[in-house]
Amino acid sequence: MRARRFGPSTTAIHGLPHRRPDWTPVAPAIQQSSTFTHPVGSDEDILYSRYGNNPNQLGVARKYALLEGAEDAIFLASGMGATALAHLAVLRPGDHLISSSWIYGGTQHLFDEELSRFGIEITYVRPEQPRLWRRSVRKATRAIFVETPTNPLMRVVDLTSAAQIAREFGLALLVDATFASPMNFRPLEHGADVAITSATKYLNGHSDVIAGAVAGSASLVEEVTRLMRLWGQAIDPHAAWLVDRGMRTLALRMARHNANGMAVAEWAAGHPAFATVHYPGLPSHPDHAHAKAVLDGYGGMVGLELAGGPRAAERMLKRLKLVAHAPSLAGVETLVSEPRFTSHKGISAEDRAALGIPDGFLRLSCGIEDAEDIIADLSQALG
Ligand SMILES: Cc1ncc(COP(=O)(O)O)c(C=O)c1O
Repeated sequence: MRARRFGPSTTAIHGLPHRRPDWTPVAPAIQQSSTFTHPVGSDEDILYSRYGNNPNQLGVARKYALLEGAEDAIFLASGMGATALAHLAVLRPGDHLISSSWIYGGTQHLFDEELSRFGIEITYVRPEQPRLWRRSVRKATRAIFVETPTNPLMRVVDLTSAAQIAREFGLALLVDATFASPMNFRPLEHGADVAITSATKYLNGHSDVIAGAVAGSASLVEEVTRLMRLWGQAIDPHAAWLVDRGMRTLALRMARHNANGMAVAEWAAGHPAFATVHYPGLPSHPDHAHAKAVLDGYGGMVGLELAGGPRAAERMLKRLKLVAHAPSLAGVETLVSEPRFTSHKGISAEDRAALGIPDGFLRLSCGIEDAEDIIADLSQALG
């Protein structure tokens, strides 16, 4: 008989539940140790926390692999570490990468400034023109990278054609689904080979950890592990313990983020101060139909453009009390930031405008407070 699959809430708490011996701590211990004793004369792999084989590092990775439906997973020191090593694992000097042009600014800087140093060429494709994936394939193409939902426009990319082309040409499809978390979207169920997440965000959810994770086949994770050891990207055991703790409430938190995102987006869509509200749960969003089909929730991220432009946005930001003006996102507390100064800093105003991120664009990360309190704070700030 096949083992019964546990639901995502149970998995996020227990991983694979198993009977515990008497007197076992219910909460895992933090193994805050860089090194472990080693049998004399043994040539077995040493236990060393830079190697990612500390029990806290391994425990949280097993849980994340189960949530993504992956064979294996690994945690890294940051989301950027996860993106960097996942790409280094599948690309070699001289290779070609096709990337969606709707990506986090940090990822774009990594591709343009660092992957290019390894002789890796990148072609950016606008995902609303799926034929361009195929047209961009070259002899040297090895991988396709997509972020969905996107930062900060919340575009929900249809992976169908990218996955089909990846299969046809033997390319790796890597997907950063940080904005969804595995509660709302699991890339491997849609043809991706590799799921990447900034665990700094929803996975941990309490704005007190920097971490990232990669999930995929055992061989991919083995290669990322090899790179992690050499490039020194292991997650600290205490950070791994905190992410594990945060993940225990992931299902409940996501349900509230989804509900609050929807409530705030609906309120903003009906408020004359806002010219445009970007939220995939709104029927006005360009990807609403697709989002409805593939997401289990629309998330807590809302893009806001004020009718009064950047000056009105600045005025509103200065009057907020409950909502904190801070970069990062996906924690229990509501945060707001301007992509031009944060996630998309260093990208020219013209390039940002072409991406649909004009000056004054606000990225709101709805926390899990009472929705009416978030709305009241935004409302008084518009005053
Ligand atoms: C979609 C996305 N991917 C990756 C990252 C990088 O994550 P980290 O800050 O944990 O390195 C971010 C950070 O904002 C992000 O928004």
